[in-house]
Amino acid sequence: MERILSGMRPTGRLHIGHLSVLENWRRLQEEYSCFFFVADWHALTTSFDETGGLRANTLEMVADWLAVGLDPEKSVIFKQSDVKEHAELHLIFSMITPLSWLERVPTYKDQVQQFQERGKDIMMYGFLGYPLLQAADILMYRADAVPVGEDQLPHLELCREVGRRFNHMYTPIFPDPKGLLSKVSLLPGIDSRKMSKSYANDIGIFCQPGELKKMINSMITDPARIKKDDPGHPEVCVVHKYHKIYRPDELPGLEEQCRGGGIGCVACKKMLQETLDGILKPLREKRMEIIARPGYVEEVLLEGASRARKAASETMALVREAVKI
Ligand code: TRP
Ligand code: SF4
Repeated sequence: MERILSGMRPTGRLHIGHLSVLENWRRLQEEYSCFFFVADWHALTTSFDETGGLRANTLEMVADWLAVGLDPEKSVIFKQSDVKEHAELHLIFSMITPLSWLERVPTYKDQVQQFQERGKDIMMYGFLGYPLLQAADILMYRADAVPVGEDQLPHLELCREVGRRFNHMYTPIFPDPKGLLSKVSLLPGIDSRKMSKSYANDIGIFCQPGELKKMINSMITDPARIKKDDPGHPEVCVVHKYHKIYRPDELPGLEEQCRGGGIGCVACKKMLQETLDGILKPLREKRMEIIARPGYVEEVLLEGASRARKAASETMALVREAVKI
């Protein structure tokens, strides 16, 4: 069976923009041998000075994964730092990776600059090596495919180059993993900017119904509509973007009503709230069941780590043999 691997940094509770990514993972686990992990070492590359929430965020995020349907019977679900082999492979790769390869990864300079603007220096040895650690994650499981967002493609490219260099220099061990581009979420945040926890414009997958209502009520609509029968322009409205994804069948009728002033924004938001609540309610309930079992998430991670370690130790035996170390 083909192998799939993917990971996420532990950002804590997930928002509905992540839902499409997780649903993709859930489908993949039916057909592939899947490894899904929390990239907690990767989180250190930018949050080395604020690590207090790391453990809690890891557990929160894995509870979210399980609630959305990742199944520890089908997939190996683990935390990167539990499998020390990742660090060993990263170290070995660091010996054969030219500095220039890392410096020219496009996300590197961008991110350094973005953090600089916020007054934080992340020009650390570890951050430069971020994509190399990611290469170790992927090649460790000799994954055939890696579901990632478009922003991760340069990292995957570097991973392939490093694998090829190793194969060429020592012994061919690593396959060439392909990227499975996950559909990017088209959902904006409630203020119409990109949805992000740091903008506080994100709707949590597991937020309470009251919170959901509040978020939807503060979504930006067409500013030209003052009275409820003013003609609207759905294309500028955040609520409309959500209806487009969650109620595609009813969209033409809704647009017509909005344009003709036949529906008020309050009623339109209420419809969205009911639709979204219908989707999120079962997930919320499943999550409650998961966290009601004390120690369950920790147990899933322990069991996952032991399965991941087994696969990792097979690869590392080949690597050590190849390098003669
Ligand atoms: N860099 C990825 C992200 O920020 C997380 C990640 C780390 C990852 N290692 C990985 C993703 C290996 C896929 C495969 O989203
Ligand atoms: Fe947006 Fe709906 Fe109001 Fe039209 S009626 S502006 S789509 S909220």
